This record gives sequence, C-alpha cells and structure tokens, in this order.
Amino acid sequence: MRPVLNSAVGRLGTESAFAVLARARALEARGRNVIHLEIGEPDFETPAHVAEAGIAAIRAGETHYCQTAGLPVLREAAAASLSASRGIEVDPARVLVANGAKPFLFFTILATCGPGDEVVYPDPGFPIYESAVRFVGATPVPLPLREERGFSFDPAELEELLGDRTRLVILNSPQNPTGGVIPRSDLERAAAAIERTPAWVLSDEVYSRITYDAEAPSIASLTGLLDRTILLDGFSKSFSMTGWRLGYAAVPEELVEPLERLTVNSTSCVPPFAQLAGVAALEGPQDAVDAMVAEFRRRRDFLVPALDALPGFRCIEPGGAFYAFPNVSALPLTADELADRLLGEAGVAVLAGSAFGGHGAEHLRLSYASSLDNLEQAVERIRAFVAEL
Ligand SMILES: Cc1ncc(COP(=O)(O)O)c(C=O)c1O
Repeated sequence: MRPVLNSAVGRLGTESAFAVLARARALEARGRNVIHLEIGEPDFETPAHVAEAGIAAIRAGETHYCQTAGLPVLREAAAASLSASRGIEVDPARVLVANGAKPFLFFTILATCGPGDEVVYPDPGFPIYESAVRFVGATPVPLPLREERGFSFDPAELEELLGDRTRLVILNSPQNPTGGVIPRSDLERAAAAIERTPAWVLSDEVYSRITYDAEAPSIASLTGLLDRTILLDGFSKSFSMTGWRLGYAAVPEELVEPLERLTVNSTSCVPPFAQLAGVAALEGPQDAVDAMVAEFRRRRDFLVPALDALPGFRCIEPGGAFYAFPNVSALPLTADELADRLLGEAGVAVLAGSAFGGHGAEHLRLSYASSLDNLEQAVERIRAFVAEL
C-alpha cells in the first residue's frame, strides 16, 4: 500500500510572491534582467544597533531554549510599545512572542476555529488567512474591500456577513495588498456589529509603523474590544527584520495559555538572541524607522501618480504599507495575463491581485520596497509593454 497525505494539507494555500520570485530568479539565471516588485519585504538593512544587539547576545551565550511565551524583557517592551502607540493599557502577561507574525495567524485560527465555524477575512487580503481557515475545516467568508472606499470594507456589508457562526473576524490595516488604511468610523461600526456576535477579532497590524498621512487606528483601542482582540504586530516590516523571524501579539486572557501550548508543540520558543535584538529595536533610537518610512513615501509619491497616468491603469493613493494596487480592468487582457507577461516579456516581476482573493482580480500588486531608480525603470518598461497591446 502507498502511504498517503493528510487531506487537510491539500487545502493549504500558498503565497504566490514566492512562486513569482522563483520564476524571476530562473529568468535571471538565463541572463534576463528582472526588476523585482513582487516581494513584500523592506529593502533596507536591519538597523545597525539592532543587529549589534543580536550579535552581542549570541556572544553572551543567549543561544539556548528560553521561555515559550517570550523573554519577559521583550514581553514588557512590546506591551509598553503597544500601550503607547494604541493608547491602551496592555498587560505584559497577555503579550506573547512568536517566530514572526505569521504563527499568530495560524495558531489563532487553530485555537479558535473548527468545522462549522465561519471566519470573515479581507478580500483582497494576505493569502495565509484563507489558507489557514480552510486547513482547519472552517468556512472562509470573504469581506470585500472596496476601491471606492480607499480599500476599506463597507460596514453594512460586514454587518450582513456576521452571524452566530462567526468565530473570528480578521482585519488588516494598513493593508496588504492594497496599502489601504481602515478609517476609525469603519472600525467603530465594525466593533459595534462584532460585539453582537461570539467572534474573536484578529487585528493584523504588522504595517502599523508604515503610514503616510495619519496613523492607522486600531480596533483594539475601541472600548471593550481589547478583550476579544488578538492585536498582532511584529518586527519584519517596521524594522526590516524579515529574516529574524520575530513577532508579538497582545491576546485575550483566555488565549494566552492555548497559544503558548501551540508554540510549545511546534517551535518551543523564539531564539533568545533574536528577542534581545527585538528589545533593542523597540527601546532604542527610532530614526532608522523614520528614515525608511520617509523613503517609502518618496517612492509612493513617484510610483502612484506614474502608474495612474499609464493608459488603462487607475491607481489610488495608499495611506500605508509599501504596496501600490492599480486597477487594470480597462486593458485588453486580464490582470493575471498582464502580470505573467510583464515578467516574461518586460522583465518586471509583479503579482496579480487574484493571488489575494477574487476581489483583487482586476488589479496588480507592486511592492515599492525597491529603489526609486528601479521603480522609474519598471514604469518605463510597463509603459512600453502596454503601448504594444
Ligand atoms: C498582512 C501581513 N501579515 C503578516 C505577515 C507576516 O509577517 P512576519 O514576517 O512577521 O511573519 C505579512 C508578511 O508579508 C503580511 O503582509
């Protein structure tokens, strides 16, 4: 007899950014020049004082197992940071540390949802949400994000989708892939509607430090919501630390122990030297973050109007993160075909919006975590390509 796979694995999705990157690298290996706008990670070094703190910790022998929930010093620093930035009181005992923000997505869904439960999540949205929901056998309920609302959701639509079976509502602001920021008024209506259901809230705020016009409000700061909200933040985007695999969340009291158990069953703990680098990131000088956001703003201010001016493109200005999400439905090919051909024929790697859900199907996602020079060249290549259509 042949050994078989667990059928749940077949329900796992993936992140197409990694597949597109692999295809782009294969083209480069054959001598082609490719501009990479597919990957969602800052193109800056981890700030030197943060890296040094990690290296010093390795030298000091911080290379062993440590507390599953996270080092107390990092839980305290993260609680202080969340409290100050969201204007709330976060108890360090409710803060957990994990290997990036991603495990919190998976573990929260594993800990709260099963077959028969519904999970409302943003569409277009980070693909791991739907993937994890399907994996546990729960029912994904996409919440459309509306371009005409700056890629926020329509609160009336959210109210329609909520019910007694809603176990979890996932929100993400600033948002991947649209760069949208959910305004406070929408969060207030969402909070009022969610409070009438038995749903937890997972507020994915990993781009919280990367905003351009105003700070992104957090649903956790609305009265009563912190007690049902997993308030998720991390180091990957804010401090250009994607490879350190470090994230944290403030979670409701009832979830502290279950989430800790999921960690002890999987990764045991986050390397202590990475956690100590995280303390340096939160408590040390913030000028590297400010400089990174200023550079992202410069790029956004070039890229968005440049895309918007291309024939067949319409691109609204994102308020956060580092993604442009132009609508290309006026072109004579689908966004999927366009993304495919831009890579193969024009040497520009972007993602099709469909990688983020059906409501993104008319869009492309371009990450502007790439130099201004690259962005200028990419726009020229795209302009030349669409002129030939
Ligand atoms: C919305 C969103 N949440 C979570 C993550 C994962 O972040 P981390 O590297 O901290 O696991 C990403 C990364 O792209 C993201 O875009």
